[in-house]
Amino acid sequence: MRILIATIFPEFVASVREYGVIGQAVKNEVLQIEILNFRDFTEDKHRVVDDYPYGGGPGMVMKPEPFFRVYNYCSEKYGGLFTVLTSPQGIRFDNSVAKSLSQKENLLIFCGRYEGVDERVSKIVDLELSIGDYVLSGGELAAMVICDVVSRFVPKVVEEESVKRDSFYSDLLDYPHYTRPADFNGMKVPEILLSGDHEKIELYRTAESLKRTALRRPDLFIKRQFSEQEKKALIWLIRELKDNAE
Ligand code: ADE
Repeated sequence: MRILIATIFPEFVASVREYGVIGQAVKNEVLQIEILNFRDFTEDKHRVVDDYPYGGGPGMVMKPEPFFRVYNYCSEKYGGLFTVLTSPQGIRFDNSVAKSLSQKENLLIFCGRYEGVDERVSKIVDLELSIGDYVLSGGELAAMVICDVVSRFVPKVVEEESVKRDSFYSDLLDYPHYTRPADFNGMKVPEILLSGDHEKIELYRTAESLKRTALRRPDLFIKRQFSEQEKKALIWLIRELKDNAE
């Protein structure tokens, strides 16, 4: 998969392809991330990308020409594109949107800025995405979030098993994790994790996931269709609670 990000702050966005599993995937050519500077797609001496809004009002509006030039450049170079514009007016970005975007061959993300983007850009935008109900100073952080989350669904970027186990993949929060030491200042790792009994450990982890989800995200818990393993884990958890109470 190829992700193209168009921005006026290319150095800021570049870090998304330099670190961690995403950095590794780019190095191994499992994933390509290309960053384009809107100013390279202007034709005037001052490389202007914004202008005053027609009708007046505060702030500046991003001009349409650099968007269309970036779009034409990328589609001539790579063929079919799926285009996203980051915007607080977009639909909410989540794991299921990320998963479907990860199936695109070429994903072009336009970072919005200033007070807005000229409405005519919508002609070349397939999807407007918001990462939450707040206003960022620009779309760069949103594009980086989208790029990171989408990349994790691209085969071979992250171990498939850990993607499946990740929070929200199946609308269930992750279970707690521990590493050495087994006793840190009197805070002990749950004994079951040291037992070597893998079946019990799986039950414990499923039960902890369910417990966390019920406590922190009751909206998800209430909607849940429990799997056989989850039903087993819930019964096991209730037994444990009863035994501890006695
Ligand atoms: N640009 C400004 N705020 C944003 C948000 N919440 N999501 C996506 N892009 C944005």
